[in-house]
Amino acid sequence: MTRLALKFALVVTAAWPAIALSTSASCGQEKDAFTDLEYVNWQRAVDAYDKGFGPLTSQAVPTLLDRAGFQKDGVLLSGMLKEVGSLLDVACGPGQVLDAAIALAGSGGAYTALDFSPNFLRLAQERLSAKYPNTPDRVTLKFALGDAQAMPLRAAAFDAVTSNFGILHLSDPDAFLAESYRVLKPGGRLAFSAWAAPPATEGFDLVLGAVNAAGNPNVPLPAGPPFFQYADPATVRRALAKAGFVDVDVTTVDWMEWHVDSADELYEIFLEGTARTRELLRGQTETEAEAVREELRRRFRERRGALRMPAVVSSGQKPL
Ligand SMILES: C[S@@+](CC[C@H](N)C(=O)[O-])C[C@H]1O[C@@H](n2cnc3c(N)ncnc32)[C@H](O)[C@@H]1O
Repeated sequence: MTRLALKFALVVTAAWPAIALSTSASCGQEKDAFTDLEYVNWQRAVDAYDKGFGPLTSQAVPTLLDRAGFQKDGVLLSGMLKEVGSLLDVACGPGQVLDAAIALAGSGGAYTALDFSPNFLRLAQERLSAKYPNTPDRVTLKFALGDAQAMPLRAAAFDAVTSNFGILHLSDPDAFLAESYRVLKPGGRLAFSAWAAPPATEGFDLVLGAVNAAGNPNVPLPAGPPFFQYADPATVRRALAKAGFVDVDVTTVDWMEWHVDSADELYEIFLEGTARTRELLRGQTETEAEAVREELRRRFRERRGALRMPAVVSSGQKPL
């Protein structure tokens, strides 16, 4: 695969101009092959992800906001409720986290969405700007184009940081944790979500199980961290402690459900709306792909109702 020189640029919009893709703040990083692949696939996945995964990942948001200390009347800092403060949502995708946070807070607050995909950031900007007019005495919204692992944001700027299913797409998740720590104010909380491992997450279990049983599970892909590592509380606790976080909490959100009508729909969502799993499916020969689809149909027929898709929400506090 040709390597991409990704030009990351800080774009912070006080009002609602179209997102500019290059500014003087560009940091022009050359990324690793894993991040290159993620970038290409997320850029093209926006509609399929939004329709296929959006209603599912949104179900983790109330727990995510709660664990980040973000509550109805403000941000909980060191046990004290202060007025609605500043929230950064990293790997914002279509923008569900800030949408829910603003709705929860009612009025006021400063919100920043960060993503490395201009297409996702544009969708988040369009949605949120249409829903929440940006007037000085109410909600302040900003959009930052940049890498979660080297955020183009100043230190100690946020009361809370969230990331909903972002961490599992990073080549260097520890760098994201360190960056979250850097941009948080003392006393602020980070909360992030990740998928529970299969077989608990039935959507992954069906698709990965069908590839293992009927296709080729060993498609060569750029090396990346284990996809389900943040489902493991011990791994989470180690990583958050290493980054300096205290008061760590790990909660399973086990009521999340995915309403998918058919095996073919499930296959298409993974093919068009993901990054790593898409490459696994694309790496099958025609014969293997047909065998995988047939196996998936067979497995899908054996079950009833919505797919269970539990998530693990982890959080920690930057000490005062
Ligand atoms: C699985 S989606 C999650 C979207 C949204 N937070 C949600 O809850 O549905 C992953 C998002 O991470 C973004 N992303 C992946 N790698 C990134 C990186 N290195 N820096 C910033 N964003 C990244 C993608 O562009 C995509 O929007």
